[in-house]
Amino acid sequence: MSVFRFLAALALAAPLAAGAQPQEGASQTVQLTVQPGAPKLLISKHIQGQFAEHLGRCIYGGFWVEPSLNVPKQGRIRMDIVEALRKIHVPNLRWPGGCFADTYHWHDGVGPAAQRPKMLNLWWGNTLEDNSFGTHEFMELCGLLGTEPYLAANVGSGTVQEMSNWMEYLNSNEDTPMVQERKKNGHPEPYHVSWWGIGNESWGCGGNMTPEYYSDVYKRYATFAHDYPGTPLKRIVSGANGDDANWTEVCMKNIGPGRMWGLTLHYYTLPTGSWSGSKGKATGFGEDMYFSTLRNALKMDAIVTRHAAIMDKYDKAKKVALLVDEWGVWTDVEPGTNPGFLYQQNTLRDALVAGTTLNIFNNHCDRVRGANLAQAVNVLQALVLTDKEKMLLTPTYHVFDLYQVHQDAEYLPLQFQSPDYAFGGEKIPALNASASKDKNGAVHISLVNLDPKNALTLETALPGVSWKTVTGRLLTSASVSDYNTFDKPNNIKLADFKGAKKKGDKLALTLPPKSVVVVELK
Ligand code: AHR
Repeated sequence: MSVFRFLAALALAAPLAAGAQPQEGASQTVQLTVQPGAPKLLISKHIQGQFAEHLGRCIYGGFWVEPSLNVPKQGRIRMDIVEALRKIHVPNLRWPGGCFADTYHWHDGVGPAAQRPKMLNLWWGNTLEDNSFGTHEFMELCGLLGTEPYLAANVGSGTVQEMSNWMEYLNSNEDTPMVQERKKNGHPEPYHVSWWGIGNESWGCGGNMTPEYYSDVYKRYATFAHDYPGTPLKRIVSGANGDDANWTEVCMKNIGPGRMWGLTLHYYTLPTGSWSGSKGKATGFGEDMYFSTLRNALKMDAIVTRHAAIMDKYDKAKKVALLVDEWGVWTDVEPGTNPGFLYQQNTLRDALVAGTTLNIFNNHCDRVRGANLAQAVNVLQALVLTDKEKMLLTPTYHVFDLYQVHQDAEYLPLQFQSPDYAFGGEKIPALNASASKDKNGAVHISLVNLDPKNALTLETALPGVSWKTVTGRLLTSASVSDYNTFDKPNNIKLADFKGAKKKGDKLALTLPPKSVVVVELK
């Protein structure tokens, strides 16, 4: 357990001391030390992966639009979205689901679009899809984004042969019927897709399997998931639901670390904490729902710690990646929208959750080497929302913009004791953070102050780091429930951060309430 994690856990467990609340608006001083990482670890860029499912208006009506829509397009791919996502350097994009993946038959989505059969999206709103967005269109989108494709194979309702054919279609260069078909469909060269999820949520919508049964099914599918020249596969086990430690235990034991590159985990933050009844409103919430959302989001740290400890038992060398390939805030849908489309607004609160979660992943980078926010466009905690021609970037998008400096940078552990943010007799750590050094030697510290009323003053020591200047960027707003609208898309946006300065060899900074700040020291 890192010092940061240990101290954060202490703060979570401690009872609330009477009178411990600082005066509103007062600033508490935190002593923070940026330590040299030993041994050296990288923060994988894949922690900042995204997810695009055939769900609501993520693909159809999101990335993939009607020819008549008056927006910049390449074919039917919406280029204003592509431009926005290119700026944040999306490292991988997971597709086609989610629950949808275990109903998807890839062969229906290749060949002349007019001849592709239609399909009912039974998981998400029973919409009729025409399969016009299929494998080639997804690969074209990944090419435009400059991102790694991460495919989820259909294990729930597909066959081993179907998955194996998809791999051959994408990755082989021999004169087989699959390759001839790919060439006929316009792509002579192999696509080289190496990231393959073997099923999705196999404990639930992917087939309601037991971990024992799934382990055998995985081994069968993985046996026929072949490496083709130049494309060694990253075979990924469909992992646990939240804190279901038994799923991870059984998969690690029965499948064994040698047969997998990665193992996944899904955890969503529900404001109310309950799947039944209301999950909580996306906007217009009070401090009670703000606090409980953060408390539930912070559980990610304990959940990752628990699964990582089980993985350590079977994989001491930490070869297997833990991929949190679905995470994010899940609220009630926007009033008046299709409940099956999972369309929700996105507030400063969600941005604070994003910053906090990415800090947690960075601080677990010895094991967490991939993650996918759910989802990229118009679904759940989206980066981008669209309304016909209009498009906006959510506060969560801006957090990914800030944090891209950590991609493949060297991890620097932090040591500090967080003050509390207390509400309704409970408390959580107000401050969370992570740090890294990039390949040019610049140090970046990402800081989140969850306290909606009180600033935090930081005195930061950086033994072994020589630096002269500090700059930074900040995300905040007047209220944690503020959001961007199609009429005011820049209501919440990044600003220069002026609250940091060099004091001797220390960094002094004041972190405003409810803010995400990333500073750069050079
Ligand atoms: O992201 C929405 C859904 O959440 C996914 O389809 C599924 O995997 C998860 O339950």
